[in-house]
Amino acid sequence: MVYIASVISTLAVLGQVQAVRYLGRVNPATKELTWPGTGVAFTFTGTKATISLGTVSGTSSYSLWVDGKEPTIITNVASRTISTSGLPQGKHKIVLRKRSETNFGTVTISNITTDGTFEPDDVPKRKIEIIGDSISVGYGLDGKNPCTDTAIVQNNPKTYGALTADALGADYDMVAWSGKGVTRNYASGSPDPSPIMPQLYTRYGANDAENSYTFPPAATPDVVVINLGTNDFSYLNVRPALNATAFTNAFLKFAREVESHYPKAEFFLMTSPMLNDDYPSRADAQKTTHKNALQSVIKQLNSTKAHLVDWPAQGSDVGCDYHPNAATHAIGAKLLTDAIRETMKW
Ligand SMILES: *[C@@H]1O[C@H](CO)[C@@H](O)[C@H](O)[C@H]1NC(C)=O
Ligand SMILES: *[C@@H]1O[C@H](CO)[C@@H](O)[C@H](O)[C@H]1NC(C)=O
Ligand SMILES: *[C@@H]1O[C@H](CO)[C@@H](O)[C@H](O)[C@H]1NC(C)=O
Repeated sequence: MVYIASVISTLAVLGQVQAVRYLGRVNPATKELTWPGTGVAFTFTGTKATISLGTVSGTSSYSLWVDGKEPTIITNVASRTISTSGLPQGKHKIVLRKRSETNFGTVTISNITTDGTFEPDDVPKRKIEIIGDSISVGYGLDGKNPCTDTAIVQNNPKTYGALTADALGADYDMVAWSGKGVTRNYASGSPDPSPIMPQLYTRYGANDAENSYTFPPAATPDVVVINLGTNDFSYLNVRPALNATAFTNAFLKFAREVESHYPKAEFFLMTSPMLNDDYPSRADAQKTTHKNALQSVIKQLNSTKAHLVDWPAQGSDVGCDYHPNAATHAIGAKLLTDAIRETMKW
């Protein structure tokens, strides 16, 4: 159960930065939770812990796990405290992760306190990095189309990426932002000149400057998953159809850039459940064209360590704005989990 902290009598302020583990890409200079899935994990012996937030901007939603039980969903962070209390005296593990994406809002972590003592946290040995768009964010996942995507209906912990990492006992970080592409962003009514994913990828926090990410060795993933292209393909009534050659070249360039930071990682490139061969026209065959582009990248990237995960087109049961719902994410998770397990022997 979750209570809003009132007065805490015996405070043990977290002295050692190492005792609390930031999850995902969290810039230590700001401790701002931006990317979906970012958060904190820590273990303590006591009955109560409080996470105090510094600044709260916009609206964002969080999942809070206590001892691995069903998470509490937190949508109101205006009080600037996230607290667990009334736990039986003993050792407890707390995990807080962001469910929603950067543009809805962010918070900064100010400090974490307990009435007991902090303990070393278990750190998973396996690490997965997921790079993607709204599909990887969990855009509209908890909604039923037609609906409006909000910070509440986004559900990053139920995305294919988070489910896969959980199934494999891996830590994960998500570099994901709705509407983003490799060559161009989603085709909206007015052109979207904002950065594309290869630019955003270089940021520490999602709102930080480009090239601010330092690629800390401790965060080096064993597995990189890239799920991009859905937005590049969108064009109807807005702009010319995608040039598949240009897309392939740009994807290869980006994947090589990621590979240069993680030379030992295995790469898993995913097709999109939102693309199919009939829409917007048979002639486009978007699903097949995307898959062919990824296969071409895999060959050129280094076929010994890059793999295709073909996620079939979703059915008619969808989340907000035709995004994959929880059931479709579960299908993607199974395919990705099996592929990673086979390659990594995890
Ligand atoms: C923790 O952070 C909050 C919010 O910034 C602040 O009000 C509080 O004094 C801090 N507590 C401690 C013990 O440092
Ligand atoms: C597609 O892109 C390739 C590579 O950039 C370019 O050589 C080609 O001219 C483009 N095709 C069209 C029809 O624009
Ligand atoms: C491909 O990956 C393997 C295994 O990591 C490595 O030994 C080889 O040098 C790589 N080849 C290229 C062309 O990068």
